[in-house]
Amino acid sequence: MSLAANGSAPAGRKQQMRGFVGFANLPNQWHRRSVRKGFNFTAMVVGESGLGKSTLVNTLFNHKLYPKKEVPAPHMERPKTVAIESISADIEENGVRLKLTVVDTPGFADFVNNDESWKPIVDNIESRFDAYLEQENRVNRAKLTDNRVHACLYFIQPSGHALRPIDIEFMRRLHQKVNLIPVIAKSDTMTDEEIHLFKQRILADIAHHNIQIFYAPSYDVEDDETLAENEEIVRKIPFAVVGSDQQVDTIDGRRVRGRAYPWGVIEVDNEEHCDFVKLRQMLIRSHMEELKEHTHNVLYEKYRSEKLVAMGVTQDHSVFKEVNPAAKMAEERALHDAKLAKMENEMKLVFQQKVAEKEAKLKQSEEELYARHREMREALDKQRLELEDKKRRLESGRPLTPEKGGYAQGSKKKGFSLRN
Ligand code: GTP
Repeated sequence: MSLAANGSAPAGRKQQMRGFVGFANLPNQWHRRSVRKGFNFTAMVVGESGLGKSTLVNTLFNHKLYPKKEVPAPHMERPKTVAIESISADIEENGVRLKLTVVDTPGFADFVNNDESWKPIVDNIESRFDAYLEQENRVNRAKLTDNRVHACLYFIQPSGHALRPIDIEFMRRLHQKVNLIPVIAKSDTMTDEEIHLFKQRILADIAHHNIQIFYAPSYDVEDDETLAENEEIVRKIPFAVVGSDQQVDTIDGRRVRGRAYPWGVIEVDNEEHCDFVKLRQMLIRSHMEELKEHTHNVLYEKYRSEKLVAMGVTQDHSVFKEVNPAAKMAEERALHDAKLAKMENEMKLVFQQKVAEKEAKLKQSEEELYARHREMREALDKQRLELEDKKRRLESGRPLTPEKGGYAQGSKKKGFSLRN
């Protein structure tokens, strides 16, 4: 009896099954597992010295990740290249553990010549991709450590003008290797109007140079509220931020994280004052997983496939097939041999052509020689015949004609003959 006859759906048709079996508990299992394992996240901060990078990171994660910086003594020599430093911390919140790594890039844009400031940063990001690729290629790859950079906060000077060439160059070089999140540093130094215009200018520059920055995606968002929140986050990009790990008192007596000025207090956690809250929301609360997913599925995948292709691994239809190095060498040798044989043939042809030309020339001169020889022999034969004729005439006593080379009897003059 067929399945269909049995009342079941035929193979290939979707069935609606009713009754509780328990997989509704999967999200809880996932949640428990994730909480037990903890999370990890690596963020990079790039921007010139003094733009408030360390303050913002401390503010974002509400932790003094950066130790108090020592101001270098004036006689101390400043480093001449961009350094890469990383700080890690285990943060716990309501029983959830986060291993946070912040990659700092001191020295970026701080030199007289900043032409290649982006290079050590690209190298660092790529070396992290390489380390992950190397783990993936191991025989035992049960536990992969992910040290790839999941987000890069790029600090833009609050100049109010436009992006500088160094900003554009950096973003152009990095946008396909890391999730770029541009932020306007120390936005409390600008008015709301200036920030608004500056944001428009930055976005226009980014679009003009085809730079892809990270936009909080909404593809798997189902409820309208979250969708609206996401749209709100996207509208704030580039985030105009204010950082402060200090508590200050407001006029109405509240104690808040902020910056105190004679004219009032700028509150870091107040959405009316800056975009810090939205940045934190995207980075930590709503899109940390998306940042990691995009890093893995898009940025790393691109790097990985380009690297493998460069190493001689080719993609055959939908399946990657690895080329045997010995077979590749044999193939290369065969190609080389074929090239040599072709060259040899061409040389042979040229040689044969040259020989044929020489032979033709020799043959021609031989024929000329023969012709000359024939001519000379004919002339000699003619001369001999004449001499023989002369001899015969002399012997028979017949007179010689001048034409025949003889002389008239009694005449001294050459060419005269006596008529018969
Ligand atoms: P380097 O470590 O030299 O690269 O500097 P950085 O970019 O980490 O800057 P840091 O956080 O050390 O801040 C430099 C100075 O700017 C400090 O005096 C901070 O208090 C101040 N600062 C940080 N964030 C802000 C901000 O949002 N607004 C204002 N007005 N000042 C800030």
